[in-house]
Amino acid sequence: MSQLDSLRKHSLVVADTGDIDAVARWKPQDATTNPSLLLAAAADARWRPLVDESIKKSHGDAAAATDWLFVLFGREILKHVAGRVSTEVDARLSFDGERSIEKARRLIGLYEKAGVARDRVLIKLASTWEGIQAAEKLEREGIRCNMTLLFSFAQAVACAGAGVTLVSPFVGRIYDWHRQARKVEDIPIEEDPGVASVVRIYNYYKKHGYATQVMGASFRKTGQILALAGCDLLTIAPDLLEKLSKAEGSVVPQLTVEKAKAQSIQKIDLDEKSFRWMHNEDAMATDKLAEGIRRFDADARKLEKLISSFFLEETYPK
Ligand code: E4P
Repeated sequence: MSQLDSLRKHSLVVADTGDIDAVARWKPQDATTNPSLLLAAAADARWRPLVDESIKKSHGDAAAATDWLFVLFGREILKHVAGRVSTEVDARLSFDGERSIEKARRLIGLYEKAGVARDRVLIKLASTWEGIQAAEKLEREGIRCNMTLLFSFAQAVACAGAGVTLVSPFVGRIYDWHRQARKVEDIPIEEDPGVASVVRIYNYYKKHGYATQVMGASFRKTGQILALAGCDLLTIAPDLLEKLSKAEGSVVPQLTVEKAKAQSIQKIDLDEKSFRWMHNEDAMATDKLAEGIRRFDADARKLEKLISSFFLEETYPK
C-alpha cells in the first residue's frame, strides 16, 4: 500500500492547490486555496475561462472580479471533492474585524449565487486577534472558518476559545524560520519545531475537549506529514501527494486522542491583552504572521493587476 493510502486511514487528506486538474487527480476529501495559489492558477492558460467569467460577472471592477475568481475556482474544485473548499479573505483586512466579516459574508453570498451551499465552504481568516474575533461572530451565523497564518500557541488557544471550525498551523514556514535562524540546511523531524507546534496544539485541543479541528498545513517534506499522521486533517500540495503516493509503506498514527488525554496539560484563558503579550513573546510567530500577511497581500494585488490586464484585452481585443 502507498503511504498516501495508508495515511488516509488516520487523517483526512486535503489538497493544497488552486490547480483543478490536481484536485481531480488526487481526489482529496477537502481542498484549500490561498491568494498565492490562486495567482498561480489564474496565470495558467488552462483556467483562463474562469478568469474571463469572473471579469464578465464583475462589470469592470478588479476587486469584485478577484472575489468572483476565488469563488469560481472554489466551485470548480468542489466538483472533484466530497467535502469543503477553503477560500481566503483579503489579507489587507487582517486587522479590521468588521470588514473581514463583510468580506466573508460577500464571499459566501457569491458562492450561494453560484449554487454552492455555505456548508461546503470554509472562510480563511488570518489568525490575528481581529481575525479570531471576526471568526467567532461568523461561526455564530453559520459561516464556518479556517484560521490561517497560525504560528504561535497563543493563536491556537484563542482560536479554540472562539469556537472556530478549524485551524491551520503552518508547519513549513515555522521550519523555514528556524532553519534560517540556525543557519542550517535541514532540521531532523524529531527536532522540527513546525511538527512540534502541531503536536502541542492537537494535544491541547483533545485534552480539553475543544471541537475545533487541527489541519497541519504548509509542508516542506513528506517526513513532516508522516510525523503528524493522526492529526484531524492534513493539507498537502500536489508534489508531496505525488511523493506519498509513490512511496510504499504503512503509516503509523503519531497523534491520538488517547495519548493526548493521558497528558497533563494546563488550560489557558486568554483575553486580548494576554493574547497579544503571549503571541509577542514568540519571535518566530510575530515575524511569520507579519510576513505572511504581507506576502498574501502582495499576491492578491498581483492577482488584481493580472485580472486588470485581462480586462484591457476584453475591452480592446487584439
Ligand atoms: C494552506 O492552507 C496554506 O495556505 C498553505 O499550506 C501555505 O503553504 P506555504 O507555506 O507553502 O505557502
